[in-house]
Amino acid sequence: LLGDYDHYMLKEMFEQPARLEDTVAYPALSDALFGDQAAEVFPAVSAVQIIACGTSYHAGLVARHWIESIAGLPCQVEVASEYRYRQSVTLANTLIVSISQSGETADTLAALKNCDRANVLARLAICNVDHSAIVRESELVFLTRAGAEIGVASTKAFTTQLAALLILTERLATHHRPDQFDAAPVAAALKDMPSAVARVLSHSDKIAALTPQFVTKHHALFLGRGIYHPIAMEGALKLKEISYIHAEAYPAGELKHGPLALVDSDMPVVAVAPNDELLEKLRSNLEEVKARGGQLFVFADEAAGFKPGPGIEVIPMPHCSELVGPVVYTVALQLLSYHVAVGKGTDVDKPRNLAKSVTVE
Ligand code: F6R
Repeated sequence: LLGDYDHYMLKEMFEQPARLEDTVAYPALSDALFGDQAAEVFPAVSAVQIIACGTSYHAGLVARHWIESIAGLPCQVEVASEYRYRQSVTLANTLIVSISQSGETADTLAALKNCDRANVLARLAICNVDHSAIVRESELVFLTRAGAEIGVASTKAFTTQLAALLILTERLATHHRPDQFDAAPVAAALKDMPSAVARVLSHSDKIAALTPQFVTKHHALFLGRGIYHPIAMEGALKLKEISYIHAEAYPAGELKHGPLALVDSDMPVVAVAPNDELLEKLRSNLEEVKARGGQLFVFADEAAGFKPGPGIEVIPMPHCSELVGPVVYTVALQLLSYHVAVGKGTDVDKPRNLAKSVTVE
């Protein structure tokens, strides 16, 4: 089953171009991709509430940026274990979106079951397993086509969730911003994702070369801004779960409000630096890190103009469109955590204390 790969995680990372291709392989984007009721539900949605856990929660945080900026609908995202016990206020005509690789996560399922039915229009499951408990509990469904994921650390399930959430955004925008919304960039992004991911995967050796600078460390900071903050969160989660290095993600603008105090030469700082409108802000945040002796690892768009030098390693990333970027940078950070974990000799596919499917609270 493993073929030429040393670990399932590595195999699953390299399957991503094909799995993404499959997830977006529809003759045309239509409401029907989400089930029979979608054509009635989507035009009536006034707000979106996303619930999920762990990596799937990070996919939801990315989707919030898309749903608000592209479809113009208010979107909240919350970890299911909190949402299920909180007395939240559900706006009228809310579409609940649950995101789950396994479809069996106890907290996500309970949150779905206990949501405020008076204000919830419908529940949509974005899931990798057909007939799972979460799919059965939902009126609308979009199945990602990641294939079975064996590595405990989610990789291809996450990136296919992002593709699915971009398709959802396209549907909502079509109904809610009929005059302003231009579907062409979304369609182009969905088409480009597989090859963009293949390009990052070809940088695997370059990323592996960073390993010695991480294996002796006990902590790492991940920085990103805007839609890349959840990508930094996902990078930090991957590193901690498989390499056992304590990692935390911050929106880079928060550095000076506390975490900068942690920065010294023992603290690798990983920055996600696409060439977007927040790049200059990020650049000045990174100067602050450099000035305090922190070791920077900047995953930067080739066009962003970062120069390597003392205290700063630059990992050039293929230039890609705004909508493809979150997927591309995620894959680079997956590779980083994988190589560091291999360097540390941990059980990459079965990290200690973790289970693939969390069916208990
Ligand atoms: C981390 C990871 C977990 C899961 C979480 C939710 O790599 O895989 O954080 O994302 O346990 O699981 P699902 O998506 O099955 O609901």
